[in-house]
Amino acid sequence: MSQTAAIPNHVALIMDGNGRWAASRGHERTWGHAAGAESVRACIKGALVAGVRWLTFYAFSTENWKRPAEEVEGLMELLCDSIVKETPELVEQGVRVVVIGARGALSEKVRRLLEEMEEQTKGGEKLTAVLAINYSGRAEITRAASALAAEAMGGELSPVMITAETFAAQLYTAGMPDPDLVIRTGGEKRLSNFLLWQAAYAELYFTDVMWPDFNEDQFREALDDYGRRERRFGKIR
Ligand code: IPE
Ligand code: IPE
Ligand code: MG
Repeated sequence: MSQTAAIPNHVALIMDGNGRWAASRGHERTWGHAAGAESVRACIKGALVAGVRWLTFYAFSTENWKRPAEEVEGLMELLCDSIVKETPELVEQGVRVVVIGARGALSEKVRRLLEEMEEQTKGGEKLTAVLAINYSGRAEITRAASALAAEAMGGELSPVMITAETFAAQLYTAGMPDPDLVIRTGGEKRLSNFLLWQAAYAELYFTDVMWPDFNEDQFREALDDYGRRERRFGKIR
């Protein structure tokens, strides 16, 4: 039986277009990143209203280190400021925050704030907001392969026991549902190394709207578009 999509359980967002949005207004790129924080709030609100239970935000890719140091520092500062500013409201809204990605490369301060935010919001039961920071889909997959190889070498795991399920259990997203809908703002039509394993059967939604202009109405529009899709998962109807 085909599954007519209603409300997606998990929406993942590639928040793209901040730099161009700022430049077109004669500002520095970082100004666009700061404006984009409001769109994160709008999506959380939209998800709470619609009953979406999981939201994943692609905040910083491993490839983003290749940007000018000033922009990277600006993004990290914005992240720290947002954590401090937003955590109380997230707790109030019943939002649990979970971070995925390679934390080791982040500064001590960023790591501490992320951990505190996870700890302070862990009781949130309405929505889980996953923040992908220093995230790379390929790195996540190779890390899982390496962990399983180590177990096999140690004799704890037989290679025949490696299945899609045991593999997925080694990813950052272990225990999380796969995204049903991936939204990318900013006009590009690519995944940029985001949730490569998890998005295998996700519906993809691309919009030319730049991330800082993405608001609750646009989030709702994406959900409505998803609602009109027919997910077949390889079957014929
Ligand atoms: C935000 O948009 C994505 C992040 C990496 C934080 P960009 O900074 O990529 O903006 P554009 O694509 O250059 O406009
Ligand atoms: C993807 O956006 C990464 C994030 C949204 C964090 P980019 O702007 O870095 O992607 P590319 O470089 O255009 O593929
Ligand atoms: Mg971009």
